This record gives sequence, C-alpha cells and structure tokens, in this order.
Amino acid sequence: MLTSLRYLAGTAGPSGFGSRTTAEEATAGDLGHITAIITGATSGIGAETARVLAKRGARVVVPARSLKAAEEARARLLADCPGADVVVLPLDLSSLASVRRFVARFLELGLPLNLLVNNAGKYADRFALSEDGVEMTFATNYLGHFLLTRLLLEKMAETARETGVQGRIVNVSSTIHSWFSGDDAVAYLDRVTRRKMYVPIPSLRFTLAYCDPFTCFRLKLPYDPTRAYALSKLANVLHTRALAEKLEEMKANVTANCVHPGIVRTRLIRDRDGLITNTVFFLASKLLKTIPQAAATTCYVAAHPAVAGVSGKYFADCNEAAPSRLAASSEEAARLWTFSDAITAEKVQKMGGVHAATAFRLQVQSSNADRAMAIA
Ligand SMILES: NC(=O)c1ccc[n+]([C@@H]2O[C@H](COP(=O)([O-])OP(=O)(O)OC[C@H]3O[C@@H](n4cnc5c(N)ncnc54)[C@H](OP(=O)(O)O)[C@@H]3O)[C@@H](O)[C@H]2O)c1
Repeated sequence: MLTSLRYLAGTAGPSGFGSRTTAEEATAGDLGHITAIITGATSGIGAETARVLAKRGARVVVPARSLKAAEEARARLLADCPGADVVVLPLDLSSLASVRRFVARFLELGLPLNLLVNNAGKYADRFALSEDGVEMTFATNYLGHFLLTRLLLEKMAETARETGVQGRIVNVSSTIHSWFSGDDAVAYLDRVTRRKMYVPIPSLRFTLAYCDPFTCFRLKLPYDPTRAYALSKLANVLHTRALAEKLEEMKANVTANCVHPGIVRTRLIRDRDGLITNTVFFLASKLLKTIPQAAATTCYVAAHPAVAGVSGKYFADCNEAAPSRLAASSEEAARLWTFSDAITAEKVQKMGGVHAATAFRLQVQSSNADRAMAIA
C-alpha cells in the first residue's frame, strides 16, 4: 500500500530518487572509462539506457538480431550524442549458437567490458519453440542472457582487475516475476515446452471410474503467455542471486543486480497491438511511466556511485525492493543455475535442435529426480 502511494506520488526513497526520476537524473559523472554491452538497445527502455550512458561518455555495444535495426539505433545515438563510440554486432538471444558467435566477435575486438545490461525481452503471445527446442519467451528473456553472461564473466573480471574499476551486471526483470508462484519452475518450463499443460478434474475421476484417471480426466490448457513471461522474469531474478554468489566465489570485482523498470508502453506487447490494448493504455496512461522514467532504475544500478559494492539485490524505482518469496530462494537460484548450465553446455548444443530438445527433457527429468532424492 505504502509502496503504491509512494509510486503514485513519485516520492523519493532512501536513494533520493523515486518513480518519476528519469534516467538522466539517475546517473552522475563522466562514464568515459566504461564499455557497456546493452541488449535490446534498438528500442524502448534499452534504447534510452544506451542513449543516457552514451551521453555520459560510455562506449556502447549494441547487439541486435537485425543489423538494420542496430544501424538505425547507432544513427539515433550519434544524432543525440555526436562523437559517441557505438559498436553494433549481430545477436539473436533466442539462439544459443548466435550468443556464442556474438561473444566470439566481441572478444575478437579486444575491448574491455565493464558493464553488461541484460535488457532485451519479449512477450510471446503465441507458443513457439526456439531453434534449441526451448519455449521462446524463456529462451529469449533468460536462457540467452544466462549464456551471454556466463561467456563474458571472465572478460568482465579481467577488465575489473586490470582497470581497478568495479564491473556491473544489470538484469532487467519485472514485478510480474511475482505472478509465477506455487509451481516448480523447471517442471513448468518442461510442461510449457512440451505443451503438456494439463489440469486434473477430480470430480470426473470418480464418475467415470473405468478410465485411467491420469490420462482421461485431464483438460489440456492453452499456452498462457503471461505465465510464460512471468517465469522468464522470475528466472532473471534467480539468475541475479546465483550470479552474485558465483562472482563472490570467483573473487571477481563485479556486481550483479536486477531491476523492475516500471510499466511503460513500448514495443514489448507488439503482438497485442489493437483497439483493446490502446484503450487500456490510454485509460492507464497517468499511472504509467514514460520511457526516460522506465530506464532510470537500470541506469541508476548500472552507473550510480551509491550502488558500488551492492550485489544480488532487486531494485524498483531506483531503490532496493523485495522480490517475491520464490525469487528470494537461494536453493531455487542454485537449482536453476545448474539446470541452465547443463542445457547451454556445448555438447548438448552440438546435438542439434530436435536432439537438444530431447536432451533438455532428459535434463529436466534428471533435475526433478535429483530434487526428489534431495528431499528424500
Ligand atoms: N515495458 C514494460 O512495461 C516493462 C515492464 C517490466 C519489464 N520490462 C522489461 O524491460 C525490458 C525491455 O523491454 P521494452 O519494454 O523496452 O520492450 P521493447 O521496446 O520491445 O524492447 C525489447 C528489445 O529486446 C530486443 N529483442 C527481442 N527479442 C530479441 C532477441 N531474440 N534477440 C535480441 N534482441 C531481442 C528487441 O529487438 P527488436 O527490435 O529486434 O525486436 C528490442 O530491442 C524487457 O526485458 C522487458 O521484459 C518492460
């Protein structure tokens, strides 16, 4: 209640910033010594994040699945920040092979890496599988970023060691992560990937007792895009938690935090464009953020001196906030990390799409078996 009132009033929290703070206001100082990779910087919150960081002097790497979109983003950045150092590289986060190619190309450039903003995201209205056989929202919003971060960790640790400047990783999640609860995340991902969305109907089980209750009396549910999106955003928070621990173990001078940017109209729900969406956004427009306000928390966590040394935390409206109970679970974070590590392993990738999907399912099953054994 208090949080909602503070949001509506735009009252500043302990950081001195609040829901109405813009990305420009949330950053301070010269960032000329920083090289940043910002995924999803071709539109929306990512584009504003890149603009503000470039304006403060940061070298900005803009990965994009369409080079045309990346070149247009570069042109916009240069128009706004003449002389900005902008590098564009191809990357499709839904493809693990593309992530590997992107990292190889980036490392070949011999650039340092101080900041990684895992911002790109999608809300997939229709069910689809990635080329690696994983549900598309999860593959794009989480799994691609997991692998990207994993492959860039050493470079970030090395840059921090050589420059003495603390590295930062910012995962862009959403408050919608809390809508995923009461289910086993990995098992749900397996069900949604295989489209086995069944619910039992207990009453029928008794009236038609001659049928096998586990096969006959279950209703197949359609793909639920909001639940799939919520799962991917929960994974972003759990990733942050496990990553912060991993960085500490590595003794890397790099922090990892995640953010909820706030609700703003962008191209995220482009699949749902139409009269109803337009009306809802029009009616709610006074409650929503602008894009500069929505990029504020990312920019604050990415570059503000007050966040130095802070790791493993969740931020909203430029202040530390509490994630959902499930998102705060270290056990769930460790389990998701192990699972993600196995599924992104190169040997699994080399098996190709269909076989990778099989390996994925086997991994889910063995992961569930491990869990059952741990509980036993
Ligand atoms: N808007 C909100 O209200 C809201 C609320 C909470 C959290 N968020 C989060 O904020 C982040 C940014 O979203 P946004 O609202 O700014 O949406 P947006 O305007 O649609 O931007 C999404 C960005 O991600 C990129 N992207 C999508 N799929 C990709 C892929 N497979 N490979 C590489 N890049 C890909 C898009 O590139 P293309 O141009 O190629 O499509 C675009 O640059 C997302 O993580 C989202 O979940 C948004």
